[in-house]
Amino acid sequence: MDPILSYHERSKHHLERYAPGPGELDWASQPDPFRSYPGTPELELPLLTRELSVSWDELCSSGQLRQQALNVDALACLLQLSLGLSAWKSYGGSRWALRCNPSSGNLHPTEGYLICPDLPGVPAGVHHYRPERHCLEQRAAAPFSWPDGVLLALTGIHWREAWKYGMRAFRYCQHDCGHALAALSYAAAALGWQVRLLSAWGDAEIAAITGVDRTAEFPAAEPEVPEALVWIGRGTAPAATEVLAQMKGAVWSGSANTLSQQHRDWPDIPAVAAATRKPTGKVMAADAQQALPDLVPTSRLSVSELIRGRRSAQAFDAVTAISAQCFYRLLDALLPRADLPPWAMMNVEPCVHPVLFVHRVEGLEPGLYCLPRCANAFIELRSAMRPDWLWASVPGCPDHLPLFLLAPLDVKQFAVTTSCHQDIAGDSAFALAMLARFDGIGQAEPWLYRQRFWEAGMLGQVLYLEAEAAGVQGTGIGCYFDDEVHRALELDTQRFQDIYHFTVGKALVDARLGHEPAYANLEAGVGRREILGADLTGKGT
Ligand SMILES: Cc1cc2nc3c(=O)[nH]c(=O)nc-3n(C[C@H](O)[C@H](O)[C@H](O)COP(=O)(O)O)c2cc1C
Repeated sequence: MDPILSYHERSKHHLERYAPGPGELDWASQPDPFRSYPGTPELELPLLTRELSVSWDELCSSGQLRQQALNVDALACLLQLSLGLSAWKSYGGSRWALRCNPSSGNLHPTEGYLICPDLPGVPAGVHHYRPERHCLEQRAAAPFSWPDGVLLALTGIHWREAWKYGMRAFRYCQHDCGHALAALSYAAAALGWQVRLLSAWGDAEIAAITGVDRTAEFPAAEPEVPEALVWIGRGTAPAATEVLAQMKGAVWSGSANTLSQQHRDWPDIPAVAAATRKPTGKVMAADAQQALPDLVPTSRLSVSELIRGRRSAQAFDAVTAISAQCFYRLLDALLPRADLPPWAMMNVEPCVHPVLFVHRVEGLEPGLYCLPRCANAFIELRSAMRPDWLWASVPGCPDHLPLFLLAPLDVKQFAVTTSCHQDIAGDSAFALAMLARFDGIGQAEPWLYRQRFWEAGMLGQVLYLEAEAAGVQGTGIGCYFDDEVHRALELDTQRFQDIYHFTVGKALVDARLGHEPAYANLEAGVGRREILGADLTGKGT
């Protein structure tokens, strides 16, 4: 069997047994959630302590926002609103940080690197972002020189997730990368910047510019691997060969901190990582995107307030219904609009499509629905599922929204059971399973396996933020019984597989948890420069 499909099969959870995992958690070896590079020069970043004046509705409309100059203040804002901390939580004797980008188990395998020429306030080089201190660590001083943009790379530390989730962890690292990509896209859009995924770069090149291939500078049991690279700015990104040539004069410093003293090996993870490495020059095929009407307004809240206020619901009230209008807007934001974040990041045909478990949406029959995100997918999905599903149009649904009723049913218990018995999948307004095309993955383009999970993570990030904008909350669900869903849908698993679940509804807040603002210790007055509202079209709070 193909090694990727074999990994996928073996990392499935089943009703009668979970995918191989550590069982008991070894708390003594819990990985440090924060990477650092002792020995590197640190660049303290200014903090955004006021909200941006750009509203969520402005961000989600097609008009171009004012483009900020590329300087330390704007880049600090980009990093804070994408990979930065959003709050500290505490309970009993423990205290943990939350970030603008969510992560399975809050373990945060994804790291961010800024690669830039000399900019006002930021020297040319390769910089690692440290979210907990909101600073850049200059891993390399390098004579980069190109106009109008910066490169931002994401990498992953599989060990962080494997510590808790064992074999299945590789999937979660990819989901998290997708969430982080979308988080970057939204934050950049708020600053008037375009973001493009540089799909022609190979993993070896991303490893070289981030320095994660300098294995002697990393603990052997905690390798960090290249994930994705984006261009943020105007015009065309410099070619990989050009950037790597300019790096010849780079001077590297520091070495990675140790995250855990003890490790357990999960050999399937480096194996599937190796099997899905992306070579240079294979570009994602461009798609002619459909013309879609503007999204209907949903929230006048500041983008930065919404992004920093995003939280995963840990429980839902099991009674609140959302309006049909709110539901349609949420789904509409999942359609690939070429000019809106995060879909503007890559102009490719959607390969991940939700099957929805509707529980509490006013005016909609509870039941099973499907949203093929492009016309081709409708035909494919219809022929890949139970032949007697209705595929009925939904009265009142906007014409351009391809939402279909498959069966009117009470699917609350089904959603709970298949989502590893988690009540959040049934107590919400709706939940969903994301079906990804699997037929193109394999020996020809094995890295597409990772990209499918990124796409699912991006859908998840849209749902998280759209839910907040609608006054409700979402939660990603990485724990589900893959084949139970496939069986119920009679899904042709050669063509599609369920790769992620999500749920949206009215959250119950756990009042036992303590809450502190993200950067209380760093705020102005304690020595940190503030980004003034006027600098980034901000408004006071
Ligand atoms: C890929 C992914 C999978 C997740 N799976 C689950 C899950 O199965 N159950 C759950 O309750 N939360 C799940 N979460 C939510 C995380 O626990 C949550 O994002 C994390 O604790 C950080 O909290 P925050 O999202 O409020 O910042 C998942 C999140 C992501 C991104």
